[in-house]
Amino acid sequence: MKINIYPTAEEADYAAALRFTEIVKSVIKPKIGLATGTTPIGFYAQLVKFYQKGVLSFKDMTTYNLDEYIGLSPDHPQSFAAFMDNHLFSAIDLPAAQRNIPHGDTADSHLEAERYNSLVEGNSPLDLQLMSIGLNGHIGFNEPGETLSTSAHLVHLTEETREVNKKSFTQGEVVPSSAITLGLGAIMKAKRILFLAKGDEKAEILKQAFEGPLTTKVPGSFLQLHPHMEVFLDKDAAKYLTVNINVVT
Ligand code: F6R
Repeated sequence: MKINIYPTAEEADYAAALRFTEIVKSVIKPKIGLATGTTPIGFYAQLVKFYQKGVLSFKDMTTYNLDEYIGLSPDHPQSFAAFMDNHLFSAIDLPAAQRNIPHGDTADSHLEAERYNSLVEGNSPLDLQLMSIGLNGHIGFNEPGETLSTSAHLVHLTEETREVNKKSFTQGEVVPSSAITLGLGAIMKAKRILFLAKGDEKAEILKQAFEGPLTTKVPGSFLQLHPHMEVFLDKDAAKYLTVNINVVT
């Protein structure tokens, strides 16, 4: 793993977006794994700028989001489907039929997780997975615990995750208690991972994930095993890291 550290969050976003563009241009019909959350917002804004400048097109890509809340339909403002529309899809040339997100409003979540797993793992691995990490070490919604799943599955969100994610919900609204997430299998089989994190609050969990022992208590620690992961951090997020670092000035 190569950890690139930039003076600011904007520079980390820009560098990650440039690398994303370079990678997708080298693949004929790229299969891309996407993420939601606060972290990729600036990165997606940068991709939109590249699209507007004509240096990046999405028309041959197929995208697969990591996760979706159970109980929220795609038009619910806090669904990850709506997030993707707001921050990326509505501004680019990715055909609607090539955007995939687990269905949160399904009657049978286990069946939906199975369907989604076959869709993503299908005949070939993801060419690229965009990834960040939760404050408790989760990746996708693979929460810390005694075990981890390789396949997509229904997950009960920890109180910590629900509390952190409250920020995206309006006051009084209840954060869903469960979600469908891709498992560690699809993530670890992705040919490349671009990992992005910014801000002081991620510094401690990044130290544990990247320099601590592999443990199901910190699901992100398994990313240490990925052979082609490139990391983009700002200096605040990187402040405790000492191994494999490349400080960009
Ligand atoms: C999002 C996802 C999560 C987030 C993580 C960090 O699709 O799967 O693992 O990457 O919760 O969220 P933020 O970026 O809001 O700190």
